[in-house]
Parts: sequence; C-alpha cells; structure tokens
Amino acid sequence: MNILGIESSCDETAVAVVANGTDVLSSLVLSQVDVHRVFGGVIPEIAAREHLKVIDQLVHAGLSEANVCLQDIAAIAVTQGPGLIGALLVGVSYAKGLALGSGLKLVPVNHVHAHIHGALVGKEAPEYPCLALVVSGGHTNIYYMKSPTQLELMAYTLDDACGECFDKVAKLFGLGYPGGPIVEKMAKTGDSQNCKMPRMVEDSRKLVFSYSGLKTYMVNLHEREKLQLTPSRVADVLAAFQDEALGQLVRKLQSVRRLKPQAKMILIAGGVAANLRFRQLMAQEIDIPVQFPNLKYCSDNAAMIAGMGYHLYQTGLASSADFDDISWDCYSRYPYEKT
Ligand code: KG4
Ligand code: ZN
Repeated sequence: MNILGIESSCDETAVAVVANGTDVLSSLVLSQVDVHRVFGGVIPEIAAREHLKVIDQLVHAGLSEANVCLQDIAAIAVTQGPGLIGALLVGVSYAKGLALGSGLKLVPVNHVHAHIHGALVGKEAPEYPCLALVVSGGHTNIYYMKSPTQLELMAYTLDDACGECFDKVAKLFGLGYPGGPIVEKMAKTGDSQNCKMPRMVEDSRKLVFSYSGLKTYMVNLHEREKLQLTPSRVADVLAAFQDEALGQLVRKLQSVRRLKPQAKMILIAGGVAANLRFRQLMAQEIDIPVQFPNLKYCSDNAAMIAGMGYHLYQTGLASSADFDDISWDCYSRYPYEKT
C-alpha cells in the first residue's frame, strides 16, 4: 500500500512515496536553508512563499521518481502541525486540494510523532513497547510507544529544545546556521575536559529537559572570554557544551527507562540524531538496543510523514471526503499535545 507524504512545517518542502510504511519509493527534500542563512534563522513569511513556489512540481517529481501515479496511491499524509502556520497552510491546503480532486483519503500527521518513523523507514519493525526520543530544533520529547501510533509523552523541555540550543550557541560564536553540524565539527577537535559546564535538571526524578540555563552559561562565558578566545579554546568550550547538551538526553533516557523497564529498545529521531558524538555516548551508556535513523531521515523529510500516515490510515484515522471529521487545529508543544 503506497502513501504519498507531504511535509512543509518549517524550511524544507518534502514529498515522498512510501510502500507499507517502510519501503521508500521516493523521498525528495528541497531545503530552504540557503535562503534563510543570511538572516541567521528561519523567516516564517519567506518559508511559506518558498513552499508555495515548489510544492506542486515537487509532488509531481515525487510520484514520477517512485514510478507511480495517483491511482497507485492509497492515501495522502500531510503534516498538520506543529510548525510555522504559513508554511503548514501551504502543505495542508495543497494536500486538501489534491485529496478532493483525486478522491483520495487525507491523513493528518503530527510532525513530531512522525520523526520517530524517520528512524523506522527502510528498517525492520521495532519491538514494542519501546521508548522514542525526538530531538530536533523545536522539540526534545521522550515517548513510551506501545504501537506505531500509541505514544505516551514521558518527558519534554521546559524551555529551549536541544537543537535550538546548538543553533543559538553556534550563532553566539559566529559560526553560522544551522548550528548543530558546525558545533559538532568544531567540537571534534576540542577536549571537553578543559572546560567545566553546569549540569541542568540534575535531579533524575524530574522528567523534564531544560536548555536555557546552558545557553545563558554559554552567553556569559562568551562575554567573559571573548577577547581571549583562541580557536583551540573555542573547540574545547564547544566540546564541553556538546557533551553536556547530549549528556542530558542520555541521563533522561536512563530515568525514563527505569520507569518503563518493559521497554525493549530505544528509537532516536530528529535533526540532533545525526550527531555522531551522541551515537557514541548512547552506545557507552545504554544497555538495550538503540536504533538511529539513516542520516537522510534525521532531519525533516516526507518519508517519515508517509511512514506514520500509513499506520494512522491502517487504524482508520483518515478524513472523510469533506474533511469535517478532522480538527485542523495545530498541535501545541508540551503536555497539552494530542497523542
Ligand atoms: O528535525 P530537524 O531537521 O527540524 C526540526 O523539526 O526542528 O532538526 C533541526 C535541528 C537544528 O536545530 C540543527 O542544528 C540540529 O537539528 N542538528 C544537529 C545536528 N544536525 C542537525 N544538532 C547537533 N548535531 C548535529 N550533527
Ligand atoms: Zn522536524
């Protein structure tokens, strides 16, 4: 069963065709990163207009690369939220039009939940129950997963997301955007032992993340040392920052694991999952199987939307022809989120 996935929640327009939830027939991603780089972050109005320019062509290209036409598609899955409202509107409106015109069912997909399916496409089905960490530019959530669509939110960030913190620290050091890959590259040449970082939300019973204190510490360090910051000192500072930022993820996963000992494995998803130091730390500290996505499915893509859409469709969570049975409200970020 083929699902057409459409993603436009932030600064990537993406289209994919995925068979049976995991076999990727096509996955096209058009990143706007070069357009936004000059501003040091995503400009929502520009993002929406960039999506609008390319979405129709990209859907045609995605179908053609998969060697299918609309008659071969069972349903259209589209990112409903969370995300930038103008950007989301482009994808949702396009998908609604396509569904109305073609008679296909429409499946609204939560972008954050779908990231987990980025760790599943192209792989064997995981063993349930499992834990899943979504760690991206907008979210730092741990879920307990009983099935591909049953997610219980166990931990979330009180303030900044982990990836957002990488981006802000990179900006502070004048390293460009997006910050995660640049910080990782620079940190590789540094020694984290040469710089002490504060430990955030140390109490292991607290199932929350917090990154704003670490960010403020970095702002103050930069202010204090800016006249003496040699390249090797910057590398040491970034290595220490990275280890603390990633260490918090590992520690909270360990806490949730103690609460849910029945979890058989851990899935990691989202942009920060691309970080190789994170993969190393997880291998050192976690003693159950950990599954990371292929690098191309860490950051935003539509294969993950189609992957999740497949399972939602199987459980009957698709729209009727007039879309009246779906709340098109976008999801909020924290404990109020719909599961
Ligand atoms: O999942 P994603 O593409 O978009 C969101 O839904 O947010 O994640 C983007 C985030 C950015 O904050 C970026 O800096 C971070 O993922 N990121 C990384 C790395 N690659 C991307 N963070 C740390 N290390 C990386 N290698
Ligand atoms: Zn994302």
